[in-house]
Amino acid sequence: MRTALTELLGIDLPIVQAPMAGVSTPAMAAAASNAGALGSISVGAMNAAAAGEAIAALKSATNRPVNVNVFTHRKPKREEDRESAWLKALEPHFAALGMETPADLPEIYTSFNDDPEMQRLLIEARPAVVSFHFGLPEPGAAAALKQAGCLLFCTATTPAEAVAAEKAGMDVIVAQGYEAGGHRGVFDPDAGDAQIGLFALIPLINTAVSLPVVAAGGIANGAGIAAALTLGADGAQMGTVFVGCPESAAPDLHWRTLKGPLGAATEVTRAVSGRPARGVVNRLMADLRERQTAAPEYPLPYAAAKALAAAARPTGAPDYETFFGGQAAPLTRSAPAAELIADLAAECQEILANAPQYLAPDTQQA
Ligand SMILES: Cc1cc2nc3c(=O)[nH]c(=O)nc-3n(C[C@H](O)[C@H](O)[C@H](O)COP(=O)(O)O)c2cc1C
Repeated sequence: MRTALTELLGIDLPIVQAPMAGVSTPAMAAAASNAGALGSISVGAMNAAAAGEAIAALKSATNRPVNVNVFTHRKPKREEDRESAWLKALEPHFAALGMETPADLPEIYTSFNDDPEMQRLLIEARPAVVSFHFGLPEPGAAAALKQAGCLLFCTATTPAEAVAAEKAGMDVIVAQGYEAGGHRGVFDPDAGDAQIGLFALIPLINTAVSLPVVAAGGIANGAGIAAALTLGADGAQMGTVFVGCPESAAPDLHWRTLKGPLGAATEVTRAVSGRPARGVVNRLMADLRERQTAAPEYPLPYAAAKALAAAARPTGAPDYETFFGGQAAPLTRSAPAAELIADLAAECQEILANAPQYLAPDTQQA
């Protein structure tokens, strides 16, 4: 199971436990790293103070390589007409929950590129890996992180994004297929989303760049990891399969919904946050399916989506919950992260060791 990724990081397994804002925890990432994979936390939804605490907790639980993930979206354009039209479309939902529709949409997350305090924190903390989602890091911060000894990973959803990431000095490309749960790492959603599936994306990106490639999207068992490696990836990043781990910060209902009938038909929507993200279809997504391209820029709509979810939660119905998950959601598991990683690695190894016997006899003869 040695690949360019395991060599670069000095880890045992070509497996990355995906960073998942609101779901991955320092305990989950430490367990993953201690089990020989690369564990990740996301600090994209935190301010620098909270991120500092999370990184300290992670470092105290493992001395193996870890990944700290940040969001590199552009600062949202404020468009009064668009924002008020969006709030107007949400009125019936707030009214149904007996609430006033909020007067505006606050910007709830600051991009890493606009957050010098977060940049300083990561340069000082020097995690083995810093990963970027939604675009490239600002060149000065990228150079300083590299100087501090960090390896830089960047999500790409097209070969063109991967080429741009290579030119910007990234060390590893996370090739995210359309199957993936959570937000798509698309650099500029207004320029369109190519929606490339992972089977096509891995060889496309491998041909376009010379960097190690980590495959992400719909991988939920050892066969998926073996397939990604066979297609030319150097590692597999998995998110949805970790949602139900006891170390997860997600409510139990999130995992149960992924395992249930709704988990079999996830959709990509811009209606929740303003950027395309895959998850279980909730009332907001279903109602705004046709209007989603009119959503204000990320992360503005997220404030309203979170307010609706908080208001609906006491009813116990998951109508407005944002339950992100990928296309393989029904295969998600619930074992502790270390056990899950050991199982995934054993399944993958068994397949790779016995690869010829999985081929149909006539294929083998040919
Ligand atoms: C609940 C959830 C939250 C996520 N949050 C993040 C995040 O904060 N940062 C990030 O880079 N990717 C995030 N992702 C995407 C993952 O990095 C990865 O691309 C995806 O989980 C792979 O597809 P899979 O879920 O089918 O395994 C998230 C995914 C999920 C399921």
